Amino acid sequence: MTEPALDVVGFLLTARTFNDHTELDAGDLPPAVRRAVWDGTEIQRPIVISTEDIREGTAIEDPWGAVSNLMFTERDEFNGELRLAEPSMAESWFLERVSAEAIADNPTLAYVYEEQFEDVSYEAAREENRSIRADRVWIDALLEEYFQEEEDQDMLDLVDIRAPEEIEMTLDDLVLTEDQEDEIQKIVKAIEYRDYLGSIGLREIGKLLFVGPPGTGKTTASRALAEELDLPFVEVKLSMITSQYLGETAKNVDKVFEVAKRLAPCILFIDEFDFVAKTRRSDEHAAIKRAVNTLLKSIDEVSLIRDDVLLIGATNHPDELDAAAWRRFDEIVHFPRPDEDMRREILEVITRRMEIAEFDPGAVAAKTEGLTGSDLRLVLREAVLDALTENRQALTQRDLLDAIAEFEERDSLRGLNMIDDDPAALVAGGGHDHDHDHDH
Ligand SMILES: Nc1ncnc2c1ncn2[C@@H]1O[C@H](COP(=O)(O)OP(=O)(O)OP(=O)(O)O)[C@@H](O)[C@H]1O
Ligand SMILES: [Mg+2]
Repeated sequence: MTEPALDVVGFLLTARTFNDHTELDAGDLPPAVRRAVWDGTEIQRPIVISTEDIREGTAIEDPWGAVSNLMFTERDEFNGELRLAEPSMAESWFLERVSAEAIADNPTLAYVYEEQFEDVSYEAAREENRSIRADRVWIDALLEEYFQEEEDQDMLDLVDIRAPEEIEMTLDDLVLTEDQEDEIQKIVKAIEYRDYLGSIGLREIGKLLFVGPPGTGKTTASRALAEELDLPFVEVKLSMITSQYLGETAKNVDKVFEVAKRLAPCILFIDEFDFVAKTRRSDEHAAIKRAVNTLLKSIDEVSLIRDDVLLIGATNHPDELDAAAWRRFDEIVHFPRPDEDMRREILEVITRRMEIAEFDPGAVAAKTEGLTGSDLRLVLREAVLDALTENRQALTQRDLLDAIAEFEERDSLRGLNMIDDDPAALVAGGGHDHDHDHDH
């Protein structure tokens, strides 16, 4: 639809059709209409459309001006409401002009008109429409609607919210253990069948704890999951919401969960989960204790089945988590330091777009015992930068081996023993913290 009049009439017809067909829900409304009438949790019928709603949803400056000369429209001077005074006349006017694509983009209209257009199906329209809730614009509109106060803004600064389209590394870029793959598959299925799970009373699902040393892909895997499932990703570091506003911490925790529930379906990722344990044990300020209790309670109360929020916690220090926190997760997913095979695969993935003469990932893998995926990326980065200082873009296997040596030297300066056969050390990050910046 390009013509403003057509857009405005389409908007009004959508609202009318939605009011008439109570079996339709928010997922059937196109984003422009939904934004205008959705309060974040439900839609009150009848939906009433004002000129302002249409202006917001369609960017048409003067919606009433666009349709005022049509005989079947009317405007309530008092509240600005636009209506179709002659619905059947409006309908035939609209159907003569509208394109099949426009109907296919609008599940509500597809519901009543699918028969009249080729290649339009309500099912497909609805399926397509869903993901719009994960669009940046949609997320921003929601946040703006619900978190306008200044203190909300302060809190939102502490939370990182990404639309799936903004997530760079996907599951394809990650090398996962079999166990990790299985857990991810389970979650994908649980989300797909969440209505069924709810119907059989299975609610203890959708709270994962990712455990493993720094740089093993916990954050990346969580984000990739959001990308895979087309869900907004809400990320928060516990230390952040705690340290910055001591007195406000409990409120911040509440808000974080509120944000997640508003954006649902979404993934809520809580990083540095061990922070809970630390603060619970030590004799911290009462405000922090209150916050921690709020956190544990919020985790209890949020549900994948009921709220459509998938909760993922992550920690480098599982040993510091106490039973109260541990018990709240229904799956623990281990992110170990990669073994030799996995390192080789990671090297293959991260060098996918690089040109490396005599590249032997197996040999590199054999020489990098104890390094994480993040470390391997650093090694590659060093190799690339070193080559560039010699004005070379093409790398050689030699460059990689040199970069490994450099990396080892750097780590040994920090007193870090990378060769570690003790399997327990694979889990516990304690004493092995590399604080390299491996976020991107
Ligand atoms: N299994 C893996 N496959 C591919 N790349 C990996 C893997 N593990 C880590 N990486 C690389 O390392 C980078 C850092 O990983 P990520 O930030 O997800 O680690 P993390 O476990 O969240 O670490 P931290 O505990 O410090 O937060 C990723 O961007 C990715 O490029
Ligand atoms: Mg991380």
